[in-house]
Amino acid sequence: MHCSLALPLLLLFISFLSISSTNQQHQKKNLQPNSMDPAELEILFKIMESMSSDKPWRITYPNPCKSGSSWMGIECKPGNDSHLHVTRLDFGSPPNPKCKIRSTFPSQIFDLPYLQAAFFTKCFTHTKTMLTISQFKLFKSKLQQLSLRSNLAIIGPIPPQISSLKSLQILTLSQNRLTGPIPKQICELTSLEHLDLSYNFLSGIIPNQLGGLTNLVVLDFSYNSLTKQIPDTIGKLSMLQKLDLSSNLLAGSLPNSIEKLISLVFLALSNNRLKGNMPKGLAKLQNLQYFIMDDNPMFIPLSEEFGQLHKLQELRLANSGYSGTIPATFSQLLNLSTLSLQNNRLTGDIPVSFGNLSHIYHLNLSRNFLGGQVPFTSTFLQRLGKNLDLSGNPGLCMSPAEAYGVKRIGVNICGNNKTTSLIKPLKHSEAPSLGCTKLFFLLNVFFLLYLH
Ligand SMILES: *[C@@H]1O[C@H](CO)[C@@H](O)[C@H](O)[C@H]1NC(C)=O
Ligand SMILES: *[C@@H]1O[C@H](CO)[C@@H](O)[C@H](O)[C@H]1NC(C)=O
Ligand SMILES: *[C@@H]1O[C@H](CO)[C@@H](O)[C@H](O)[C@H]1NC(C)=O
Ligand SMILES: *[C@@H]1O[C@H](CO)[C@@H](O)[C@H](O)[C@H]1NC(C)=O
Ligand SMILES: *[C@@H]1O[C@H](CO)[C@@H](O)[C@H](O)[C@H]1NC(C)=O
Repeated sequence: MHCSLALPLLLLFISFLSISSTNQQHQKKNLQPNSMDPAELEILFKIMESMSSDKPWRITYPNPCKSGSSWMGIECKPGNDSHLHVTRLDFGSPPNPKCKIRSTFPSQIFDLPYLQAAFFTKCFTHTKTMLTISQFKLFKSKLQQLSLRSNLAIIGPIPPQISSLKSLQILTLSQNRLTGPIPKQICELTSLEHLDLSYNFLSGIIPNQLGGLTNLVVLDFSYNSLTKQIPDTIGKLSMLQKLDLSSNLLAGSLPNSIEKLISLVFLALSNNRLKGNMPKGLAKLQNLQYFIMDDNPMFIPLSEEFGQLHKLQELRLANSGYSGTIPATFSQLLNLSTLSLQNNRLTGDIPVSFGNLSHIYHLNLSRNFLGGQVPFTSTFLQRLGKNLDLSGNPGLCMSPAEAYGVKRIGVNICGNNKTTSLIKPLKHSEAPSLGCTKLFFLLNVFFLLYLH
């Protein structure tokens, strides 16, 4: 199971990196005021009363920022004005305040002048509500992190006014029901390190201006309905470690500028309408550990350059019309644990050197036109067990010795069928090597006789 765990762990690690770097920048000072600005306190109570009926907030927490008496889900820090200020609000996921069934998005959070982080998880689920951000702000927003996740009642577009949240470093709007295009104004948020708009109903193109977000480490637009080409400007995101554009309607070929994403660790492009060719400089992505690109109408030969991505742990290229032979260079991927090439049009033998893949754990070559004898040792076969799938390659066979004790691979035994019936009669008459020499000799004799 180690490979199914590795992916979530990696993603968690990447998120952790960006979150911890955000938090460290704002260490509290040492003066200890303990009252709030009355205007800010009033905004806070209004937000709480509209969001949650867990408690009578004004009565239970008359001084919500005072240490020792604050509720879960709130964080305060002293400002330079002898007041305490709300810096973080967290709703929805326990132990934070539960959201009322009829709660709607509280745009008053943008009126809290010191707010740095706001989280709403599984919060707006019944009453349809839209993300609203008032355009004119009297102060510069300090909001660094805004996360709205799994709110099935959030509908409508991402407002262009989002560009006024100039300090945003982390924007997560995943698993809501947002519609419309990705506003190009989002690309004015040049401090963004983490942008996750996955699992919505966003449509239209990926804006060209995206290249302006040069601090991005994580970009996830997966599971939307984005169309047209991946913009060339994506190559400007040289800090990017995770790029996920899976399950959209993206077309054209991958831009060559992808080769500039030299920090990339995780690249996922499955389930789009992308076609050949692969970018020329693919081999420059020397930090890549995951290349996941199933289900695209590629219809080209497999690129030899994959063999130079030495850190690859997962390579998934299933269901994409790849033709030709499997490049032997793939066996240089010594850290590869998963290789999925099923459901293509691959021909020729399985490279003998595949036996070198000492970390391989899951190998699926099923439903191709591979032929010849399976080149694996019984140790290799036993190590992979059920995670090896060679079925649906009519030309492929295994020696009886190899196949001994191995189950569920779905490959014929060599010589068990027609092959046997061809060899057996020869064995009974003469040795094949002798037969050839004799035939050649007889031909020579015939020609000599004929010419005379
Ligand atoms: C502290 O207050 C001064 C004067 O009001 C202001 O100019 C400055 O930006 C404040 N500093 C911070 C960190 O908010
Ligand atoms: C292979 O993986 C191991 C352990 O994860 C790591 O230490 C090593 O550097 C990797 N090798 C390459 C070529 O990436
Ligand atoms: C991989 O296997 C091939 C053929 O079995 C062998 O010639 C080659 O030296 C091996 N390479 C490595 C790096 O082990
Ligand atoms: C290999 O791929 C086929 C086709 O997608 C799938 O049905 C099968 O379960 C896979 N085998 C393994 C061992 O993952
Ligand atoms: C021989 O091949 C035929 C068709 O290709 C298949 O139906 C049959 O099961 C095979 N027999 C053996 C013994 O593998």
